[in-house]
Amino acid sequence: MRVAILISGRGSNMAALLHAAAVPGYPATIALVLSNRADAAGLAVAQAAGVPTAVVESRAFKSDRDGFERAMEAEFAHHGIELVALAGFMRVLTEGFVERWRDRLVNIHPSLLPSFKGLDTHARALAAGVKLHGCTVHLVRHGVDDGPILAQAAVPVLPGDDEAALAARVLEQEHLLYPAALAWLAAGQVRMQGELAVVTAPGAQGVLANPLPAPAPLPTTDAWRVSG
Ligand code: GAR
Repeated sequence: MRVAILISGRGSNMAALLHAAAVPGYPATIALVLSNRADAAGLAVAQAAGVPTAVVESRAFKSDRDGFERAMEAEFAHHGIELVALAGFMRVLTEGFVERWRDRLVNIHPSLLPSFKGLDTHARALAAGVKLHGCTVHLVRHGVDDGPILAQAAVPVLPGDDEAALAARVLEQEHLLYPAALAWLAAGQVRMQGELAVVTAPGAQGVLANPLPAPAPLPTTDAWRVSG
């Protein structure tokens, strides 16, 4: 499967995918890294890895979102792209684009969807007081951060966490989860059951082992016995 990775910035998930795809037997070839910003740091990383890159400046298209997407698709056609992986790509795609790439368009989001769609997920998770947070790889549908879930990894929210600490813990999982989920998709190991994505890879349930600490021992029964 020939994959295009779409980025807007740092590209650490892109780098994790490039790393995985360099391993013999990985079922996807990263045939293009495309950014909507010429100053995306990830472009240099892709170039250093010898992967073809392209820039389609979204700014140049102003409100012509369809024109922007058609320009990206011209690059996809040029590079024989079959599957598109969004990796920190900060543009909302039109319904037309999403439908043209239905079930061939995948995204990673830094929360356990459907919680915390949109931006600032780690700050909002902290503000909500959730005890588990994480990341999700999903097929893209027309709503922001919406679509059938392929895989998730959870991390604990620990006392004293700030946004940066939590983001770093989640990002570490993103870098493991995305290569695994993309491999399942590229290898044809995802079956759609209506709007549910079922991972059929042997031994995989769409969840990665994660570094949840061993649970604290339960209090003795006496601790919650109601007296009287
Ligand atoms: C990642 O945390 C990714 O999950 C998030 O942007 C970051 C990009 O980092 N994506 C979204 O928020 C999409 N809704 P990266 O450029 O280092 O991969």
